[in-house]
Amino acid sequence: MAQKKVLPASITIFGAKGDLTWRKLIPALYNLYIDHHLSQTFHIFCVDFLAVDDAAYRDWLLTGVNEFSRTGRADAQKWTEFARHITYVQGDFMKKDTYDALKKNVQKFEKDENIRGVRMFYFAVAPRFIEVIADALCIQKLCNRDNLDRIVVEKPFGTDLDSARKLNRYLAKRFKEKQIYHIDHYLGKEMVQNILAFRFANHVFEPLWNNEYIDHIQISVAEEVSVGKRGGYYDSSGALRDMIQNHLLQLLCIVAMDCPKAYEAEAIRDAKIKVLKSVRIYNTEQVFKNVVRGQYAAGVVNGQARKAYREEEQVKPDSNTETFVAARFLIESPRWKGVPFFLRTGKNMERQSTTIMIQFKETPHKIFKDDITPNKLIISIQPELEIGLLFEGKVPGLHMKLLPMEMDFMYKDAYIESLPEAYEALLLDVLDGEATQFMRADQIEWAWKVVMPMLDAWKKNPKKQLQFYESGTWGPASANALLKPFAKEWFHLAHKPATTLPEPAAKAQQVAAT
Ligand code: BG6
Repeated sequence: MAQKKVLPASITIFGAKGDLTWRKLIPALYNLYIDHHLSQTFHIFCVDFLAVDDAAYRDWLLTGVNEFSRTGRADAQKWTEFARHITYVQGDFMKKDTYDALKKNVQKFEKDENIRGVRMFYFAVAPRFIEVIADALCIQKLCNRDNLDRIVVEKPFGTDLDSARKLNRYLAKRFKEKQIYHIDHYLGKEMVQNILAFRFANHVFEPLWNNEYIDHIQISVAEEVSVGKRGGYYDSSGALRDMIQNHLLQLLCIVAMDCPKAYEAEAIRDAKIKVLKSVRIYNTEQVFKNVVRGQYAAGVVNGQARKAYREEEQVKPDSNTETFVAARFLIESPRWKGVPFFLRTGKNMERQSTTIMIQFKETPHKIFKDDITPNKLIISIQPELEIGLLFEGKVPGLHMKLLPMEMDFMYKDAYIESLPEAYEALLLDVLDGEATQFMRADQIEWAWKVVMPMLDAWKKNPKKQLQFYESGTWGPASANALLKPFAKEWFHLAHKPATTLPEPAAKAQQVAAT
C-alpha cells in the first residue's frame, strides 16, 4: 500500500462493545498500526454503555483481532504497544455526562501530546442513536473544525427515501458535507477499487464499454452466510435495503459511470450520481415484471444443514422479508440504451461469489462452422480476486475446431502479501481526509429513489411473488425465468480449489517491488 501521510488523530468509536468494532474496526486499526500507516500520535476512545474496565475491554478486543485479523493472531508485544492507545469511556449515548467524559479525554490527549490533530468520530451504532450523538458532538463543540474533524456513518442510512432525506438534513445542519463520511465497505474492497483503474487506465477496454459492444452485464453478490444472529435487524430490512440499495448499486455505478474529470472525490461522485439519475424508475407493474424476491427455506450449504429463514432467531414465523433479490435494471443513457443490467444477491446460497460479468455481443459476421460463445469479461471481487477474459480459440490439432478459452489474472498469484481489508483502506482514507471512496448524501438519496417503487410495491402486496428457495442453491427458479425472455442465463464462476502459491508468483512480487 502506498504510504500516506496521516496526521496525529483521536479516533472515537461509538458502539465500542458492538460486533463491528470487535470484528472489523479494531482489527483494521491494529493492522494499520503494525504496518506503520497510523501517525505515532494517536488514541482510540471507545464509547459504550456497558461497565467494563480498560484491561478487560482490551482483552476482549484482542480476541477479535486474533479471530478476524487478516494477519492472524496478534503479536504479543505489538498488541501491548497498540492497546496502550485504547481507552474505554463508559456512558449512555443519550446522556450528556458521556460526552463530558469523552471531551475531557480527547482534550487531555491533545494537551498531553501538544497537538490538535484529526478527530474522527465513528458511529458504529444502531440508527436510532445517530441523531443524538451528532447533536451532542455539536453541543460539546467536539467536531467543529471542518478541516480536521470528521464523522463516519455506517449503513443503514435511513430505511427509505424520506428517512434518509431527514437524516441528511439533520446532519447537514450540524456538519459540512466534507466532514461526513458515509461508509459503504464495498467501496474499500481491493478489487472494487481496481475497477476504476481497470476501466480508466487501460485504453483497450473503454472504447468497447457501451451498447455497441456489450450485450448485458450481471452483478452478483451471492453469500454463503445466513442472517445468523442479525434476524432482529434483518427482518425489518431485507436484501433490497441491506444490499441492493447500497453495495450493489454502488457496483453498478462503478461499472456504468463515464470517465470522471479526475481521480478525485467530487468528480467521481458526480459521475456516479449521473448513473443513478439515469436508472429507469419502475412503476408497480414493472416492478413485478423486473424484480424477483425470494426467501430461503431449509437446506444444506457447504455440507452444513441450514434452517429456514422463518425459523431464525428474532424473525417472525410468517415473515415475508426477502433474503434474495434479482432484478433487471435499465440505464437510460446513450451509452447504455438497450443493455440490461441484471443484479442479484442472496443469503444461504450455494457458495460465496461476488462477481461482475460483462458479456459482449456476438461477432457480427460468422466465418466458422462452430457455435461461438460470446466474449465475457469477469471481475471476481471475492472470495478470489481475479479478472478473466473468455475468448474463442482454436483447439490445437489438425482441424479448425473452436472452444472457449480463458485469460486469467489472479491477484494471489501476483501478490504474495495479504491485501488490506476494506475497513483498513477506508479508515485510513478518513484519517487522511480522502472522500473518493465514500458516498455523498445525494447519491444515497438517489439510490433510495431507485429502490422505493420496489419497497412500495412489496409493501402493498406482501405475499405476491415472494418465492422460496432451498438453502444451498442459487435462488428461486423465478430468478432464472427473469433472464429467459432475453435468452440469457445467470453466470456462475467455476469454483477453483485453493492452490498453494506457485513459484512465478514470488518472481512477480520481486519484479513489482523493483
Ligand atoms: C453488510 C450486510 O453490509 O454486508 C450484510 O449488512 C452482508 O448482510 C455484508 O452479509 C456482506 O459483506 P461482505 O464484505 O461479507 O461481502
